Amino acid sequence: MNLQGKTAIVTGGARRLGRTMSLALAERGMNLVIHYGRSAEAVEEVLAEVRARGVQAVAVACDFEQPAQAPRVMETALDRFGGCQVLVNNAAIFESGNVFDTDEANWDRHFAINLKAPFFLSQAFAKHVPPGEKGKIVNITDWRAVRPGTGHVAYTLTKAALGTLTQVLAQALAPRIAVNAVALGAILPPPGKDQAYLDRVAKSVPLRCSGSPEDVVAAVMFLLEGSDYVTGTTLLVDGGAHLGGIQEDGS
Ligand SMILES: NC(=O)c1ccc[n+]([C@@H]2O[C@H](COP(=O)([O-])OP(=O)(O)OC[C@H]3O[C@@H](n4cnc5c(N)ncnc54)[C@H](OP(=O)(O)O)[C@@H]3O)[C@@H](O)[C@H]2O)c1
Repeated sequence: MNLQGKTAIVTGGARRLGRTMSLALAERGMNLVIHYGRSAEAVEEVLAEVRARGVQAVAVACDFEQPAQAPRVMETALDRFGGCQVLVNNAAIFESGNVFDTDEANWDRHFAINLKAPFFLSQAFAKHVPPGEKGKIVNITDWRAVRPGTGHVAYTLTKAALGTLTQVLAQALAPRIAVNAVALGAILPPPGKDQAYLDRVAKSVPLRCSGSPEDVVAAVMFLLEGSDYVTGTTLLVDGGAHLGGIQEDGS
């Protein structure tokens, strides 16, 4: 798909990997709807950086803990740009919790933000891809969805379900909309962890290193503009973590 002049939604697009993807899509000439939850200051900065690349951009706040609100993000795309061709479901939380200490609140938070919001936003997106045009959805998941451990129960279940949802949507929305996932390994230290944690995890994967935000962008761009003949797949960008090797310590 030629991305130039088209519109993309990036959820959680104000910071970290979402920010990198917002900037990369702007580099390709895409107008942007940048969704954010709490990062009101960061979203203003990324809006300025995106606009400096010569494209139009708008921010929309939506708390995905109330997933019924998620379609509002699509309404912003319709109001501002008249439609939208690309949706990147990136926003998520990653909280620990094993089989014994995961409580209902932890469970519900993960399912609302990581699974229900992407589903209802994808549903709204699918209804509004402009007539005669094609669309693409990319869901950001995790190697844990493919090789589950024990330390992040609710998170792992939501990412596994998002992988399955990718396959369901790919069939339901074909042939107009291609739906794929990118399952990430160690790219950035998770909130509350430092670089040393990431380095430790990275050393135990087959490729013996962490990935970079550019690796994530390369995978997303392959699915968006590299090939229009891929749907329902999950591209693992994890240094081979899904093959084994990481010592899951539950942290
Ligand atoms: N970082 C990694 O190495 C890694 C590894 C595996 C998978 N992943 C996946 O890659 C994606 C991005 O990772 P990341 O590390 O950049 O994520 P992150 O720092 O945890 O940020 C996630 C984004 O989700 C948004 N978000 C969280 N709670 C929300 C809520 N209640 N309502 C609306 N938005 C909410 C945040 O927006 P606000 O800040 O505006 O609230 C934030 O922009 C995620 O799907 C993650 O699971 C990342």
